[in-house]
Order: sequence, then structure tokens, then C-alpha cells
Amino acid sequence: MPFVKNAWYVAGWSTAFGEALTPVTITGEALVMFRASDGRVVALEDRCPHRLLPLSKGKRIGDTIQCGYHGMTFDGSGKCVRVPGQQNLPASAYVTAFPVEERHGIVWIWMGDPEGANPDDVFDLPEFSDPGWHAHHGDALHLHAHYLNVAENLMDPAHVSFVHPTTLGNAASENVPVHVSTSGATITAWRWIRDSAPIGFFKKFGGFTGNVDRWHYYHLHLPSIAVIDFGSADTTLALPEDDRDQGVRIFALHFVTPVTEDYTIDHWMHLRNRAQGDDAASAQMDAMFRIAFDEDKAILEAIHQAEQRPQRRKPIRIAIDKGPNVYRKRIRDLIEAETTEDLGAPVAPSFVQVD
Ligand code: FES
Ligand SMILES: [Fe+2]
Repeated sequence: MPFVKNAWYVAGWSTAFGEALTPVTITGEALVMFRASDGRVVALEDRCPHRLLPLSKGKRIGDTIQCGYHGMTFDGSGKCVRVPGQQNLPASAYVTAFPVEERHGIVWIWMGDPEGANPDDVFDLPEFSDPGWHAHHGDALHLHAHYLNVAENLMDPAHVSFVHPTTLGNAASENVPVHVSTSGATITAWRWIRDSAPIGFFKKFGGFTGNVDRWHYYHLHLPSIAVIDFGSADTTLALPEDDRDQGVRIFALHFVTPVTEDYTIDHWMHLRNRAQGDDAASAQMDAMFRIAFDEDKAILEAIHQAEQRPQRRKPIRIAIDKGPNVYRKRIRDLIEAETTEDLGAPVAPSFVQVD
């Protein structure tokens, strides 16, 4: 299945981009990225139009890249500014430049038609700049897995009881039904587990000893950003569903970037309404998330292997799959809309025949 192109994907944390030419692959396309002297991050097609040597193998000269083979040189807009040995710069000598936006220490890239790139569409949350909240960049999880399976895992509260028994789930939630809402721009799956023992995460982080009311809301923003709002409050508070800030509340964000059909990078971070400015708490949470996400990685990579083998029959679907089913349909629709638009565009002839 091809990828959704008209979307802002995370290329990396801001700290990943500096002077060096950095190769990055997103939706199967090889890019070379660097931070220009004005501080802006540049993303270009990583392929010299001459003999196709990746430009990331070349040399940065000021804000240009000199190809490592014959020295053709391209500026940050992808325009060729030098062809050694000739004065004339052919019109076909350029590389594609991709729109880039940087916000909250995250570098985003638009992989589709540049005309559709609207910076207002870059994912944002008011809590990023709310003093009552603390935002912390976690890490990048690399998975040998298809991004749809990764995203599906992030709208699936049902797996936590079985995959993450020491951190994010426990047996108390095994049989609690999952609600799913697919009517808005996001797909949301959620459930409350009332009056039960706290999970490992909140025993350690929230300091709960008695029973708690626990919630998990999984919001999936298409094509592949997940916001997991989860938390706990003392059962005696009888917390209403829409007053979750009274409890210990955490957002785990996953920016899922499809690299190829076999490889995905999940940049994850978290925000919380407790322990603002407490680095030890951030490190403690990172450590717990790492345990959980490595558990997901093991499952998703094993599934990817199984998918490569001949299939005797189609996978079955059960009640908890409502969210993933709708998600896959929406992704198919987005891809179809993008490719149908392309059909209307004039097709450039690949050769001219002269009789
Ligand atoms: S391959 Fe880049 S200049 Fe020849
Ligand atoms: Fe998980």
C-alpha cells in the first residue's frame, strides 16, 4: 500500500539537525537535511539529478551542497547554482525541496504537493505552552514493522492488560469494554477502569496506594499521530469523565513516521500535569515507557515477520477492532483521493518518437 503524502510528518527532534548533511527517509523518499546559517532546517531530495549519487555523500559549502561525484552544487531551495566545467545551468538541474516547519523542538516535513503545505496544520496542543504542564521529549523507537500496524497499536487500549502487565496495564482491565468514537477528525478509543488497583506506572509516579479510577483515551490523528491521555485519581474523588485534570494526567504522544513499508520510526514524548520541572520524574517516566514500548516493538516486529509468510486465510476481526477498521478505511480513502487527483494531471511523455 502506498503512503499518505499530504501530511506533516516528524523528521526528528530539533537537536537531530545541525551543520551536518543528515540523510532521512520518509514515506520511501530519501531526503538530505541540514540546518542552514539562518537557523532554518532544509530538506532536499537526496539524489543528484546527474548520476543519482545521494547528495548526503557530498559536501556542505556554506548553505549549498556540492555533489560528491562531479561537484554540481545546489542551494537550499534545490536550485543548481554550479555545474563545474560549464557556464550554462540546465533547467533540469535541480532537486526537489520539501517544506519544513519547526515547533516545540520538533522538525516537521510535508511530503506531498508543496501547495497544500499549511503550517497551521502542524500538530499542536495547548498544553505544550501551558505552565501547568511539563513537556518532555522521550526518544525515537525504530521498528521493523509497517506503520499501519504501529498506529493501530496506538488506538488499542485492549492490549495493555496483556502486553504491558508491569507498567500500563493489569488484570483489572482485561474484560472492561472499549468505547470507540469515529465521528470527528480523530478516531478515539477509550475506557475507564473504576475502583481498582493502580497500574505500575501510577504506583511509581502518582504514589497511589489505595484503589483508583483509571482512564485511557487513545486519540489517533490521521495519518499517524497518537495522543494517549491516561491517568488515575483516588477513587474517593469519584472523578467525572470530563474533569481529568484533577487526577494525575499524562499525555503520551507518538509521532509515527513511515520510513518504508518495512520500517517505521515512532518519536515519542510525554506531557504531564504534575512534577513540572522535575528531571528525575521525567527520567523515571522515560524508563517506564521504554519498558512498555520495547514490549510493543517485540510484538509488532513478530507480526511483521508473520505477515511476510504465505497466508492461509485472512486475519479475523473482533469487537475491539472497530477503531483500527475505521482507521484503515480512512487511510485508504486519503490515499485514493491523492492518487485520483494525480490522474487528472497531464502526464509528461517519457520519450519523443520521430518517424
Ligand atoms: S553525480 Fe552529482 S554531479 Fe555527477
Ligand atoms: Fe503498547
